[in-house]
Amino acid sequence: MRKKTGGSIYSGASPEEVARDLAPLVDFRDEGMSLAELSALVEERLLPHLMRYDRPSFQSMFNAFPESGAEYGARTALEWNQGVTNWQVSPGGAMLEEMCCKAICRLFGLDEAAGATFMYCGTYANQQALYMALHRRAEVDGFDLARKGIAGFGGAARLKVLCSSDAHFSLRHAARTIGIGEEGIVELPVDGNRRVEVSGLRRALDEMRAQAEAFCVVATAGTTSTGAVDPVRDIAAVCRDEDVWMHVDGAYGLAYSLVPGWNPLFAGLELADSVSWDPHKQFGVPIPNSILFARRESDFARMALHSDYFNIEESDEPNPGLKSPPSTRPLTALSLVASLLHQGLAGVRERLKAPLAAVGGLHARLGSDKGFEVLHEPDTGILCFRVIPSGGVAEERLDELQQGIYERMMAGGERTISITRIGDRKALRLVAVSPSVSADDLIETAVAARDMATGMI
Ligand SMILES: Cc1ncc(COP(=O)(O)O)c(C=O)c1O
Repeated sequence: MRKKTGGSIYSGASPEEVARDLAPLVDFRDEGMSLAELSALVEERLLPHLMRYDRPSFQSMFNAFPESGAEYGARTALEWNQGVTNWQVSPGGAMLEEMCCKAICRLFGLDEAAGATFMYCGTYANQQALYMALHRRAEVDGFDLARKGIAGFGGAARLKVLCSSDAHFSLRHAARTIGIGEEGIVELPVDGNRRVEVSGLRRALDEMRAQAEAFCVVATAGTTSTGAVDPVRDIAAVCRDEDVWMHVDGAYGLAYSLVPGWNPLFAGLELADSVSWDPHKQFGVPIPNSILFARRESDFARMALHSDYFNIEESDEPNPGLKSPPSTRPLTALSLVASLLHQGLAGVRERLKAPLAAVGGLHARLGSDKGFEVLHEPDTGILCFRVIPSGGVAEERLDELQQGIYERMMAGGERTISITRIGDRKALRLVAVSPSVSADDLIETAVAARDMATGMI
């Protein structure tokens, strides 16, 4: 993959302008073109509009430029184009994936009995976790969810998943897909630092006891908006007392449990029934790369479907495809393996420390400046804040101001920032994922945001 060069972070073009430039790329004709012509076309028409994750001025989302070991692994996987769901399509691929899953369980301090499977993305990992939790609930009720489906419960309205009000929307997708619907999600209150309040969880469980039944509690280890890590160990204790499946959504944040100093925030992880993690976020492993862990490898048996030609019931060969639905999946384990070998674990820790330190520096700087309202203490690599112009602005105009700053900055094409909602207020959000983003880079963006406000009110 080519390292991008040049000044701006993307073209800054409008959707109409981008569509105009891309039109020749979808103008399919009878005659083909040479690879040289093809690459010239893509270079001219598409690349200027792609986002440059390698730049320290990319500060808005979880995407990262590929780490070079990971890039080598992804390239090799692509050259061989291996499918890995079963031994018959790729003996080495299937075995590498199984061995990598076990090794990654150990890396995160999970028990020997734990297992994992690679997934396409965190959304699907969360969805499968909720399905497995519901399956377990059905077992308690004495039936097989895989066969009877949601009808086995005699009505899905009682079935609830509890999660933070800041939990990722993929849980709502999951609730839709597994058939309980979005009304099956109960949002829990969060504290001033946007972490789930365990007292609120206990209260919610008590209040719903008469008319509903919690089958899963989700702790988010690194929320999307603020990076907050819910109190995993305390939530696990409640789940144990209530005999409820606990899922940890660590799609974004789990990586930081590998960093000394941050590790205590994630204490209790090993008690969760399932955990999701996206190496395709700040780890710099190419998209798609996601993992779902289960505390007991045997929990994945709920996903198994055998066929007559592969994933054969009697076979004792490694068939990773028995742990998740796709019957074709790429060799994504290789990019993760290659990245860990290339950087070494010490290198990985250094890579992860950098964005945490950068956001810590931003927090210290903005906290002492009246031009900003800092909205939380950063648990991980995200800080949300509002620009507060001197002289004061009516509260209702503050939301508009943050939105205006966001739009103007994104249209500039020089740096990125994101917009989110914290409670009922709009907030600007800076994210550090790349090891090359420093506190100064983030502060520069925050100051640019503040300066923009001057012309907008
Ligand atoms: C906490 C959390 N969970 C789940 C997801 C979904 O992951 P993916 O984008 O890989 O589907 C995200 C994405 O940002 C996330 O932040």
